Amino acid sequence: MPGVVEKLNPKKPSALSFKRDGQRGSQRGWTVSISEITLSEVKEDAVRFGLATDVAYQLNAGKEASIFVAYHKEHPIILKAFRLWQTSQAKKSKGFFAPGKMQVLAAKEFDLLIACFKAGMHVPTPIGRVGYYLTQRFLGDGLEPAPQLRNVTLEDPETVLDQILDEYLIMYRDVHYIHGDLSAYNILWWQNRPWIIDMPQAYQVGPWADMKHVVNILRRDIVNVLSYFKKYGLSLDPDHIVDIFLSEYVPDNLKNYDEDVAAAFDGGK
Ligand SMILES: Nc1ncnc2c1ncn2[C@@H]1O[C@H](COP(=O)(O)OP(=O)(O)O)[C@@H](O)[C@H]1O
Ligand SMILES: [Mg+2]
Repeated sequence: MPGVVEKLNPKKPSALSFKRDGQRGSQRGWTVSISEITLSEVKEDAVRFGLATDVAYQLNAGKEASIFVAYHKEHPIILKAFRLWQTSQAKKSKGFFAPGKMQVLAAKEFDLLIACFKAGMHVPTPIGRVGYYLTQRFLGDGLEPAPQLRNVTLEDPETVLDQILDEYLIMYRDVHYIHGDLSAYNILWWQNRPWIIDMPQAYQVGPWADMKHVVNILRRDIVNVLSYFKKYGLSLDPDHIVDIFLSEYVPDNLKNYDEDVAAAFDGGK
């Protein structure tokens, strides 16, 4: 069993020793062979890191992260462990995982949650992060998590759609990120309003952004949200909404992006 420090700061071996270990089938090296994660292992880590005082149960095993309902004293919280080993992904990557990469994902989601929270969005308040673990506010009552929007029947869908688009506009215009995986799965319904969650795949809309990519992903997110509202007879034009977003913010140096690209192509003729 490697110690905590070793687990989070594994030594990187030389290329030669890595190859040699590979031939021997050894588990030494900067990747660590993983078996199934257990609740008790997660609990041990979370308690030792001071992130939680207890772990109640596993809620979900996603592509990159496992979600647990945990306690901080008597308060339920969400504990998200960014690790790859539970899914077919783990098998694809030969049972290896890269702790460094998982930490980056955890840090990214944590920092972005802080920024979104500060900007006034309804997101789970971030609490702490150590290594590839992060904790955040538990949305729900008692130990019952709030339902995903897709499982809810809304009384006033028009208002809710407005709320979601308003929230997303804050994220785009003020935080300068697109979500990248927005849908009725990653919106929870709690205290009579929508809450946006799950943003490790978000993309920053800064001076170095690929605006073509931004517009594609933004449009995809909006189409996903709109598709949930179709059953209520609401249909908005996604392109119109994308245009509104773009009219609210585009990084200064990318404002004439289309013309610049066209000019560059003309110049090349
Ligand atoms: N803060 C939270 N409060 C309550 N439930 C949550 C919270 N965060 C996640 N969940 C539940 O866990 C599920 C998975 O979380 P999510 O962050 O979307 O990770 P992933 O989709 O990558 O597995 C969510 O759909 C939701 O049901
Ligand atoms: Mg999700």
